[in-house]
Amino acid sequence: MTRLSVVLGDLTTQQVDAVVNAANSELLGGGGVDGAIHAAGGRVIYDECLELRRTTWRHGLPTGEAVVTTAGALPAQWVIHTVGPRYGRHAGMEAALLAACHRSSLDLAWGVGARTVAFPAISCGVYGYPPEEAAPIAVGAVQAYVDEHPRAFEEVRFVLVSEPLWALFSDAVARSDRHGTVE
Ligand code: APR
Repeated sequence: MTRLSVVLGDLTTQQVDAVVNAANSELLGGGGVDGAIHAAGGRVIYDECLELRRTTWRHGLPTGEAVVTTAGALPAQWVIHTVGPRYGRHAGMEAALLAACHRSSLDLAWGVGARTVAFPAISCGVYGYPPEEAAPIAVGAVQAYVDEHPRAFEEVRFVLVSEPLWALFSDAVARSDRHGTVE
């Protein structure tokens, strides 16, 4: 059974196989967790993202989609870059797009053989998604995925930088039908 966990911490230090980056369509870095991942992971992540832009995603990565790169100097082996919705900017499709980010990311993580995956609170920063709305959507999407693919992952972890966010995601996991652990 897949463990859903919620921790207070820094995504870039997580000892997991894959970390998920809250990127933008440009895929060439930015602020928030995107900036932290590029700063800690190093230039190789940027170089692989640039190559993806020059080949597969010449017009940028659409919202809800994901790509995978190496993780450079991060403890993780892979970085999965996904583009979250900007709150109020997708004609009411924000919830569906936020759920799609999590499914797309888990599809890629499974594809590369990652057994443990860590997510930040996608779209809850610069992209303005109210965390109280985002948490149940994110947890619900992950739970549905691991219910459908019970042997794909050992652990899917949400990594939050503040107590209030940690509480919202912990509550969402507690309400899910998995016996998640909250640290
Ligand atoms: N570890 C975990 N979470 C982090 C970290 C970190 N090191 N740094 C920031 N966060 C949190 C933020 O506090 C927020 O709760 O990640 C969540 C997502 O916020 P953003 O990083 O701003 O991502 P998002 O809201 O999806 O906006 C994406 O912002 O940073 C730019 O380049 C990025 O253009 C993209 C946009």
